[in-house]
Amino acid sequence: MQADKKLFTPGPLTTTYSVKQAMLKDLGSRDDQFIQIIKNVQTKLIEIAVFCSFEGLPNDEYTVVLMQGSGTFGVESVFQTCTKLDESNVLVLENGAYGQRIEKICKLLSINHKVLRFPEDRAIDCDAVKSFLEKDNNYTHVAVIHGETTSGALNNVEKIGQLVKTHIPNSILIVDSMSAFGAVPVDIQKGFIDFLISSSNKCIQSVPGFSFVICSIKKLLSFKNNSRSLSLDLVDQYENMLKTNQFRFTPPTHSILAFKQALDELEQEGGPQKRYERYSNNHEIVRKGLLSIGFKELVPHEEQSKIINTFHYPNDENFNFEEFYKRLSDKGMVIYPGKMTKASCFRIGSIGALFAEDMHQLVQLIVQILRDMNVKIPIQY
Ligand SMILES: Cc1ncc(COP(=O)(O)O)c(C=O)c1O
Repeated sequence: MQADKKLFTPGPLTTTYSVKQAMLKDLGSRDDQFIQIIKNVQTKLIEIAVFCSFEGLPNDEYTVVLMQGSGTFGVESVFQTCTKLDESNVLVLENGAYGQRIEKICKLLSINHKVLRFPEDRAIDCDAVKSFLEKDNNYTHVAVIHGETTSGALNNVEKIGQLVKTHIPNSILIVDSMSAFGAVPVDIQKGFIDFLISSSNKCIQSVPGFSFVICSIKKLLSFKNNSRSLSLDLVDQYENMLKTNQFRFTPPTHSILAFKQALDELEQEGGPQKRYERYSNNHEIVRKGLLSIGFKELVPHEEQSKIINTFHYPNDENFNFEEFYKRLSDKGMVIYPGKMTKASCFRIGSIGALFAEDMHQLVQLIVQILRDMNVKIPIQY
């Protein structure tokens, strides 16, 4: 069997052999073994959230709801369940494609909303958020992305949460921490986060299949019978799981098995802190390697999440991204196209089962391929 390509992408990402192997089992949804695994997975996710919270999260006040589908299903389930048609007014803090996706969800659900836009190549400016909230605080919900995967910028969600709760004490704070939770530190309590969403195939390093929402039980239950969607009703999903330990609809059994293994491997690695150290090291190897041959990165270093980094295309007539991508892929290394609206860029992820030697190999291969393509080194802009 041919070895898998290395995915330098923000999910689906490269998983370990043992994570893939854990899926070689058929379990029924009512199987005792499966029910125990679901409980184990929920406990461990809350443990991670507690671990990341500096003052310790009171775990009897928070729960985790697993939701079938990709990350967006988790995000949409929060909006479907926790907003009221004529009463809610959502402030979306947007600095990239995933903030824009929340805007789109609000539009489709006809939820009143206002989008406060920030440049897509920077982290959100907390002083600007403060000035805005001082003048306008007529919102029931605020939504923000933690690691904006579009660019690799890291938003300071704890600081934003503190500002939000100072100016709108009774509001609900929704944080999309899709590509950050499990590695990038996030203090749910300090940041007054009511709903935090992530998914199986990001920093926990498992396969796709479900998302999960870590949330305040009290806030969640205040939206009982409110959902406008059946399948995305987060309260119903929570209550049913509490009563029966089962998903309401067909569970992603194999994905949950892989996830349990991935959580064990996160623990073996030393937890989120150690994992973040590895990702940061991966990130720095590629950054230093590419900067040394003249590439320019999009987001200032101190605002980067270390999850993914964005580099400008060289200004060289011999550079062609499709060709560059294909040559790398043919050699077993998959990178990611850019998602910027203004700049022509490509992205390199540092998450997944990737280690220092993989990152060094990628840099070497990039140099070799640029030479083969007759792109001038140092890179010209
Ligand atoms: C920050 C963020 N939010 C939302 C999503 C959407 O997740 P999915 O593609 O799994 O639906 C992603 C995907 O990469 C993401 O990075």
